[in-house]
Amino acid sequence: MYRIAVLPGDGTGPEVVREGLKVLAAAAAKTGVKYELTNYDLGGERYLRTGEILPESVLDELRGYDAIFLGAIGHPDVTPGILEKGLLLRIRFDLDLYVNLRPIKLYPGVDCPLKDKGPKDIDLVVIRENTEGLYGGSGGFQYKGTPQEVSTQVHVTTRFGAERAIRYAFDVARRRNKDRKLTLCAKTNVLTFVSDTWWRAFNEVGEADYPDIKRDYAHVDATTMWLVKNPEWFDVIVVENMFGDIITDLGAMIQGGLGVAAGGNIHPGRVSMFEPIGGSAPKYTGQNVICPIAAIAAGQMMMDTLGEHATADRIEGAIEKSLASGRIKSLSAGKMGMSTSQVGDYIAQLASE
Ligand code: IPM
Ligand code: MN
Repeated sequence: MYRIAVLPGDGTGPEVVREGLKVLAAAAAKTGVKYELTNYDLGGERYLRTGEILPESVLDELRGYDAIFLGAIGHPDVTPGILEKGLLLRIRFDLDLYVNLRPIKLYPGVDCPLKDKGPKDIDLVVIRENTEGLYGGSGGFQYKGTPQEVSTQVHVTTRFGAERAIRYAFDVARRRNKDRKLTLCAKTNVLTFVSDTWWRAFNEVGEADYPDIKRDYAHVDATTMWLVKNPEWFDVIVVENMFGDIITDLGAMIQGGLGVAAGGNIHPGRVSMFEPIGGSAPKYTGQNVICPIAAIAAGQMMMDTLGEHATADRIEGAIEKSLASGRIKSLSAGKMGMSTSQVGDYIAQLASE
């Protein structure tokens, strides 16, 4: 019996979470996986009402679950940064969810903005380091508000942090057994300190423990170019936090948009958190028009990470069938030709066949 904490969050988060859980329930009923859900009303509404973002006691409770299922964080009436840092990044950091796993897979039947590229070309996984780099919050102001104002935002990389993300990525490349190739994405020609730590960790770990996995390197700017020009060259990419944030938005677009892109915030063997990566899309709130497939895929990734592969495969199969059927007209909000809950019903039905 798994215990899962559910954080629907803001905007369209609750709508997509509902469909993600609907499909999970349909698949789990077939495979016999049992779980119990506990809901948390964290997010912008609670913050505006009570001033609370993430009470210490709730954070401690979250540590005790098998997994966390998150909708979206971000509220139009809350200053940018408050909820992102206070909730999403705080959970990532305090639960030490050091891997941000972001598969980029174009399913048959999904529109791709790249000319002449199809499902056989777009199937890769990005492992984004999730606890360090520019996200650490190191920095500050001096002489703020004067003409001499100085601001710094310090990128912190540790060998330990780089190495554990790199090891996870090598393991993914081995497990996928596709091209058995891992690409390090960094900027060794300019970030001559932090990228050098990554470079040496990458090569030393690869040489010592993963001689069967090919090592490849691309600067981050070139990575964005290749993701558009030749996405088929990639199998697994490992990348520091901020570069990973940027390239995975590009990745989401080439797999069909934020409506399908899911991510896992993972600490192997501990509680991990799964989310659609698209954000709260406040202007669509309550309209039943947002695409729920990313949240459904987040449920798939949650099951996979918990070791419930049959349930995960069932969900993925259902997503694939729904997309291949042509019944969902588009994955953009308001253009699906179906409502959010109809898409969820349809995929849930496929998951229980
Ligand atoms: C993401 C988001 C977050 C990030 C924001 C909301 C803090 O863009 O999950 O990619 O930058 O990591
Ligand atoms: Mn992002």
